Amino acid sequence: MTDDRRAVREFFTERAARWDARFPEDGPAYAAAIAEVGLRPGETVLDAGCGTGRALPLLRTAVGPDGTVLGADLTPAMLRQVVTAGRARSASLLLTDVARLPLRDGSLDAVFGAGLISHLPGPETGLRELARVVRPQGRLALFHPVGRAALAARQGRQITADDIRAEPRLRALLAATGWRLVSYVDEDDRYLALAVRE
Ligand SMILES: C[S@@+](CC[C@H](N)C(=O)[O-])C[C@H]1O[C@@H](n2cnc3c(N)ncnc32)[C@H](O)[C@@H]1O
Repeated sequence: MTDDRRAVREFFTERAARWDARFPEDGPAYAAAIAEVGLRPGETVLDAGCGTGRALPLLRTAVGPDGTVLGADLTPAMLRQVVTAGRARSASLLLTDVARLPLRDGSLDAVFGAGLISHLPGPETGLRELARVVRPQGRLALFHPVGRAALAARQGRQITADDIRAEPRLRALLAATGWRLVSYVDEDDRYLALAVRE
């Protein structure tokens, strides 16, 4: 494992047990974002960087009992919390780097990634790998329950134009990795970028 990935794992291992308690009000924002992905019964969706699995029951509801929900995360402590929280029944869990997924080309209808992209050491590699596993016209949702400015304020830093989640940068990055950005919202109470697999 690279130093970058080891650092991500250490960061989230330390936070895993308290993760859900830190953000108790986020449920409706996740539900609204998932509704915008337009998942249909029977589809296959990956929660990339699923963490404690907050989105997994919502994704299961969206694809129904005949659909497939996968939750992938690099941090074992986060995946253990999925089990502790009783969410493992909603999904199959993968302990893996989302930049190297053990999945076939074009095998997914959609990917949901909440709070993921800023943590990817090589976002281009990660987004290209997500494009590999999604079928043509499949969807990618990059979500955060607070917008860029509000998150920067919470973390005591300034918002910057070269932030990977800034629209021009993200649009170019997605275009270079097999995606087309189709909608972008960055408001105080939510960030949601939706892209389609070219
Ligand atoms: C900010 S947390 C968000 C967790 C969850 N999606 C949520 O919304 O509560 C980011 C998660 O992404 C995971 N992660 C970061 N880089 C990853 C990678 N390259 N592959 C898989 N998971 C990764 C972390 O372990 C962490 O659980």
